Amino acid sequence: MDRRTLVLLFLLLVSSSSLGSSSSSTPDIRVLSAERRIDLTSSIVRVFLTLKVENTGASQASDVLLAFPPTEAEHLAMVKASTTEGKRKKKIYVPLSVNPTELPDTPNGAHLFSISLRNPLKTGEAAVLEVLYIVTHCLEPFPVEISQSETQFVYYHDSATLLSPYHVMEQITYIKTPNNKVESYTRVDPTNRAGTELRYGLYHDLPPYSYSPIIVHFENNNPFAVVEELVREVEISHWGNLQVRDHYKLKHAGARHKGIFSRVEYQSRPSISGVSSFKHLLARLPPRVHSVYYRDEIGNISSSHLRIGSQKSELEIEPRYPLFGGWKATFVIGYGLPLQDFLFESPDGKHYLNFSFGCPLLETVVDELTIKVVLPEGSKNPSSVVPFPVNQQLETTYAYLDVVGRTTVVLKKRNLVPEHNIPFQVYYDFSPIFMLAEPLMLVSAVFLFFIACIVYLHIDLSIRKS
Ligand SMILES: *[C@@H]1O[C@H](CO)[C@@H](O)[C@H](O)[C@H]1NC(C)=O
Ligand SMILES: *[C@@H]1O[C@H](CO)[C@@H](O)[C@H](O)[C@H]1NC(C)=O
Repeated sequence: MDRRTLVLLFLLLVSSSSLGSSSSSTPDIRVLSAERRIDLTSSIVRVFLTLKVENTGASQASDVLLAFPPTEAEHLAMVKASTTEGKRKKKIYVPLSVNPTELPDTPNGAHLFSISLRNPLKTGEAAVLEVLYIVTHCLEPFPVEISQSETQFVYYHDSATLLSPYHVMEQITYIKTPNNKVESYTRVDPTNRAGTELRYGLYHDLPPYSYSPIIVHFENNNPFAVVEELVREVEISHWGNLQVRDHYKLKHAGARHKGIFSRVEYQSRPSISGVSSFKHLLARLPPRVHSVYYRDEIGNISSSHLRIGSQKSELEIEPRYPLFGGWKATFVIGYGLPLQDFLFESPDGKHYLNFSFGCPLLETVVDELTIKVVLPEGSKNPSSVVPFPVNQQLETTYAYLDVVGRTTVVLKKRNLVPEHNIPFQVYYDFSPIFMLAEPLMLVSAVFLFFIACIVYLHIDLSIRKS
């Protein structure tokens, strides 16, 4: 089934059941106003939603629900919510926890997320919630194939009205496109377009689960950079170094390239030839990075530029060929970092690594990320603290001179966006005695060798006495 069939199916379900399901289990909250700002300027879709909710029921309300159509929920990379406290200049944002939830009588395959309020809403009270959700792989290139001289157009599917389990009194949606080349858009009056902004609304008095499909067809030539698989190895050496190796499988996920590729045209007319392709990518690395390399199966790729700063370092990489829609590149970026910037000791005497999760490439989606933290030999009781759900397991890795192997903490997560680049920690016990194990092994090996030599020189192996 393609995306459109799914959307249609979903609509059918919504319209057939929204008539009958007035017995919703959450009738006591209503949305006084909803403002949605949808940012379509990159390949990653970010939606900023401001909700003013009111408790109209008799009891306290401690959660507020968000609803997503199944096609969107499937590609949802992140949902964050916060509330504001204080007035005007002293306004602060307080993060709230958001978790997927289910309700027995929620129809339509709509996926629900529940925002837990810090202070439950009493009857008649209202609160303002700020929500950010990020969706990947939802801009659909059309035409699906373009030649080198064409620009890229994509479809964006959504609803003019906010899908919500609550009655919505008033709502408006703004959609921002990268430029003003909008081929077509669905009108759901009042609809208005000015420059790079499309406005849907105000709409008044919408019943729960209102859904009104829209399609926006617009130009988007931003790099559709997707890392299909990223394996990061972070190796801790208590001799003072943190070694990082990132293995990338990168793809251009935009409209497929058709026809031949002319490098002459590409280089002579860069403003109109291959505008949706990408030639460089920028990786943001920690400050004080050293021994940076960038290579693929063939060998070193020399076309990279490193700028080291006091706050961050930037590595600009350039694959061997520009990437057009559907093209892939596989490469490795490696670097060393001073250990004291990332390894700390907790009050209870454990060591811990504090390192950034996610991918250092800017504006890039990662379909599947694996982080392997290789602890020094002899480490015990590893545990990790990651600010979002991940898959965790332990492995053992062997390097030269290893006897028992190194405990390796393996963390896996799917569908990551740059907002996932936040610190995580791996805690472990380590006794410095183990640092001496390998040097001692070497010393004793050399020592034994000399003993063997001396013994050999002093034994007379001849059969006959001279
Ligand atoms: C590749 O680059 C690294 C780091 O710049 C360097 O140490 C190494 O010698 C290079 N290898 C080759 C084969 O050029
Ligand atoms: C980890 O590092 C970040 C800054 O990079 C810092 O804000 C955070 O407090 C650190 N976390 C821990 C547990 O040390």
